[in-house]
Amino acid sequence: MTKKICLTGIKPTGTPHLGNYIGMIRPALELAEKENHEAYYFIADYHAIITVHDKKKLEGFIHEVAASWLALGLNPSTTTLYLQSHIPEITELAWILSCVTPKGLLNRAHAYKAALDINETEKRDPDYGVNLGLYNYPVLMASDILFIKAHYVPVGSDQIQHIEIARDIAKSFNHKFGNILRLPEAMIQEKTKLVPGTDGRKMSKSYGNIIPLFLSEKKLRKEIMKIPTDSLAPSAPKNPDSSFIFQLFEHFGSESEVNDLRAAYEAGISWGDAKQQLFEKLNSALAKPREKYEDFLANPFKIKEVLEESALRIRPKAKALLNEIKEALGLQPF
Ligand code: TRP
Repeated sequence: MTKKICLTGIKPTGTPHLGNYIGMIRPALELAEKENHEAYYFIADYHAIITVHDKKKLEGFIHEVAASWLALGLNPSTTTLYLQSHIPEITELAWILSCVTPKGLLNRAHAYKAALDINETEKRDPDYGVNLGLYNYPVLMASDILFIKAHYVPVGSDQIQHIEIARDIAKSFNHKFGNILRLPEAMIQEKTKLVPGTDGRKMSKSYGNIIPLFLSEKKLRKEIMKIPTDSLAPSAPKNPDSSFIFQLFEHFGSESEVNDLRAAYEAGISWGDAKQQLFEKLNSALAKPREKYEDFLANPFKIKEVLEESALRIRPKAKALLNEIKEALGLQPF
């Protein structure tokens, strides 16, 4: 049986937070462990430079993202963790794909349209602050996925349109040049769709409501104690399903622990106690990974080694596909 190729990318544009872990990293790591699956997870540094134009920041985010995956259990000998910019064939393919991509398809992409909408509201030139990288984002992303012939792309629901665009581009390519590219499928994690941030909205860097994954024990406690709550008396019964504290706990507790906390809410638990329970749960889940994370960040050569070995493993495959593609186009393979 041929193995199913799973691929996903994470942009190094911020410090990884609990929402990234629950919504994306954890399910992706579980998928990688499945039989008959081959996982390729990468750090989308070329996507990051669309917005991050600060050397120190970018270097920091790249290290933090790589260290997070490794600390949380990615096994680099079975799961290929790599840096997008280490595989120049991806950007080369992106150019080729851009030549079969109708411009109108990119005009409709959400991220680009959102930028235009903001400019319209602000009464600015429609393309104010829009670089070509942002405009081409979906083409590079299509290339990320197509170059390795991925079957499945585990992503959040906000990325569905990008996968659709990748499929459209692949179809358009195959139609012209033969059946070379595989049409990928998005794999959406229904169960973990919403991870609430400290204000109850989806945990997202852009809302400023994140809890970073690898805080010291002290800082983690402080962050959790800061979660706003209502003024119900400590002994008053509380609704677990409208409480972010409970919802976050659900992502980490066992079934019986979650049931116990639910019962405590219904009987009346103080917000302080509920927060303390959440803190203890999170802290015990994150203590070991935190140690590993600190070790990777203190020894960046360990990260470099993993990333470079991965690139060496993948590039021959990427080159072979690119040559096949070049030949189909009438370009001269080298
Ligand atoms: N666009 C994705 C995000 O913002 C990151 C990404 C880049 C990606 N290339 C990809 C995800 C390829 C899956 C496959 O989260």
